[in-house]
Amino acid sequence: MESVLYVRGRSPLSGHVTISGAKNAALVLMAGALLCPEPCRLRNVPNLLDVKRMGQIVRALGVKLDAHEDVLDIDATHIGQSQAPYELVSQLRASFFVIGPVLARLGIARVPLPGGCAIGARPVDLHVRGLQALGADVQIHHGVVRACVRGGRKRLRGAKIYLDYPSVGATETLMMAATLAEGETTLDNAAQEPEVVDLANFCRAMGAKIQGAGTKTIRIVGVPRLHTADYRIVPDRIEAGTFLVAGAITQSEISMSPVIPDHLTAAIAKLRAMGTQVAMDSPNTLRVVPGPIEAADIETQPYPGFPTDMQAQFMALSTLSNGNSVITETVFENRLRHVAELQRMGADIRVKGNIAVVRGVPMLSGAPVVATDLRASAALVLAGLAADGKTVVQGLHHLDRGYENLTKKLCGLGANIERVTVPSCETATEPLETGQPSV
Ligand code: EPZ
Repeated sequence: MESVLYVRGRSPLSGHVTISGAKNAALVLMAGALLCPEPCRLRNVPNLLDVKRMGQIVRALGVKLDAHEDVLDIDATHIGQSQAPYELVSQLRASFFVIGPVLARLGIARVPLPGGCAIGARPVDLHVRGLQALGADVQIHHGVVRACVRGGRKRLRGAKIYLDYPSVGATETLMMAATLAEGETTLDNAAQEPEVVDLANFCRAMGAKIQGAGTKTIRIVGVPRLHTADYRIVPDRIEAGTFLVAGAITQSEISMSPVIPDHLTAAIAKLRAMGTQVAMDSPNTLRVVPGPIEAADIETQPYPGFPTDMQAQFMALSTLSNGNSVITETVFENRLRHVAELQRMGADIRVKGNIAVVRGVPMLSGAPVVATDLRASAALVLAGLAADGKTVVQGLHHLDRGYENLTKKLCGLGANIERVTVPSCETATEPLETGQPSV
């Protein structure tokens, strides 16, 4: 048996939706808590499959973790294990984040290579090279990254590191490792994403000395020990952006909170260019004011550029625009797999390399579609909300990884959507692979 979504399109939405805590902050802050030899509390933690999986990794390291509603208590007074288990790491790439904190605390860490996924090979070379710069000896044998502090020293040593690419994960791994290193570390060409800033703020709440998070240059002065903190995670900007598109694509006026509008500057600007206004009803509330959907070109870039995690959702919107949009995915090498599924719904899209040319059509038609990755699944739901007829979305395990109660939230806005369980024989397998790494 498998659960699928039945989405019956063309129901206008209305009302207000609550935005959950940010998945990509929660996952890395759970790793960050391992830096602290005292209990820490994280609030506004979203109830997601990925968060549960990260909790399994943390527990597998011998760390106490208690979850109650949106609160996580993590007590890393003792980290009993320096090796993260492959069977868990292979299910969640973000579990690789534990390498920095475990290495910084124990002087050794062994974490299996996370491997690729649907959107790309997802290498960790920038993480590895940065840890080596911080004084770790890093070897990769049989798919396991083994890092230990060189020369029998107890602590890593601060270093000046330039990141060839502003990798979010590498910036976070190295910032965490540097918080307990001896001396000062500079991360140049660092990622500026809000989740990086949230991690820095959490570490600072634990007593870390970090300056410049959110800019291209982050300075960390290592301290010997951190202390307990009680920290509230920022709202999920990608979930909020997804609901902004839900309003735009269904031509509905909906509002949402809590949001941090500054985290959505690029997405809001693009929506305005595409004919949808976004009003700010209060410092943490946004409201969609829809209009005729205009075509606009999109190129994904590291923050503060247009976010790759919003590319699929905006492509769904552009399929109904009154012109041609050129959408270029520059961050991941294989993040256009939702195109084939949108085409099944009548979208007119041509792909050449990492560029998709979308010619707007008057209407999409509901069809059975299969989600290929987290944000593609959201895009297919959005397309189904606007399409004529019923869309059956399969591959919901992708959706459950990153969206808390999406079906319930959309129903709350008046969407005609239900999650049903059907015999597996009635569902297709993943779309025909083109030799891409499996999820
Ligand atoms: C984080 O992934 C997010 N995941 C992704 O969100 C997000 O799309 C991405 O940042 C970009 O914003 C989490 O935070 C858990 P990167 P991450 O390192 O850290 C290359 C979602 O949908 N690279 O910035 O893995 C890499 O291959 C997910 O919520 C290297 O070459 O992203 C990619 O092409 C998807 N070597 C580019 O950098 C490295 O060592 C950006 O990757 C690391 C990365």
